[in-house]
Amino acid sequence: MDRSLLEIRQEEAFYHSNHYQQFTIESSNSWLGYPVTNLVNLGVSLSNSTQSSRFLDLGCGVGRNAIPIARGTANKLIIDCVDLLPDAIHSFSKTVEKTDIEPSFNFFIRDIANFELQAATYDYIFSVSTLEHLASKKQLIRVLQAIKEAMKTMGCVYLIINSEVSEFLIEKQQLIPPFLEVNLSSTEINELLVDIFSGWTIIDSEVKALSYTIERRIGLTEMKTSAITFVAQNDG
Ligand SMILES: C[S@@+](CC[C@H](N)C(=O)[O-])C[C@H]1O[C@@H](n2cnc3c(N)ncnc32)[C@H](O)[C@@H]1O
Repeated sequence: MDRSLLEIRQEEAFYHSNHYQQFTIESSNSWLGYPVTNLVNLGVSLSNSTQSSRFLDLGCGVGRNAIPIARGTANKLIIDCVDLLPDAIHSFSKTVEKTDIEPSFNFFIRDIANFELQAATYDYIFSVSTLEHLASKKQLIRVLQAIKEAMKTMGCVYLIINSEVSEFLIEKQQLIPPFLEVNLSSTEINELLVDIFSGWTIIDSEVKALSYTIERRIGLTEMKTSAITFVAQNDG
């Protein structure tokens, strides 16, 4: 059974809104409390090597990765932060208001597919567990191409994309169709990435098996994924 886009988006909004209400980036009992260390370190090092830079976080959530980068930078930094979910952006902006973080954030409540990427604008574009939520494979390809165009020379991408996702309804002990728009094989995503970012230097490319417990309206599920990390630099 294929799920409709509306059904997937409603279920994802339900899970994320609840999660963002219950936990913060300080929570040690949620993934929200654990930024992606290598992504943050690369961001801090890119920012600290240039007087003024501009980053983009696609599917920023509540700022789990963007906020630690902002805290670690000594230079002028603007981070454009895009998320479909108003609750995510509101919670993110409230956290920023409560702290004395220097760099400035621009917030966009927007589907990534409708976020206009200007050519040669960014020093760093990162996206964690979000691009698989674009509406179709065709849209994913278009956005990846736009990401490439939007990068300045020497800029980097850090993408984590889930593949081969399965979901298991714990109470009924049964597999269900996963709540995910684009569920490709790891090989297919890797081939897409290598093809689209050809000419760039690949810094890291790996696939990791991960599993999460997700709160759905029908009950708790266990989501298994092969998470692809792809890091590359536009070195001209
Ligand atoms: C698994 S969360 C990850 C959040 C953040 N990247 C992080 O690592 O903490 C996925 C986020 O992507 C957002 N999202 C899903 N589909 C999206 C889309 N098409 N456009 C923009 N944001 C989207 C969700 O609202 C959610 O906040």
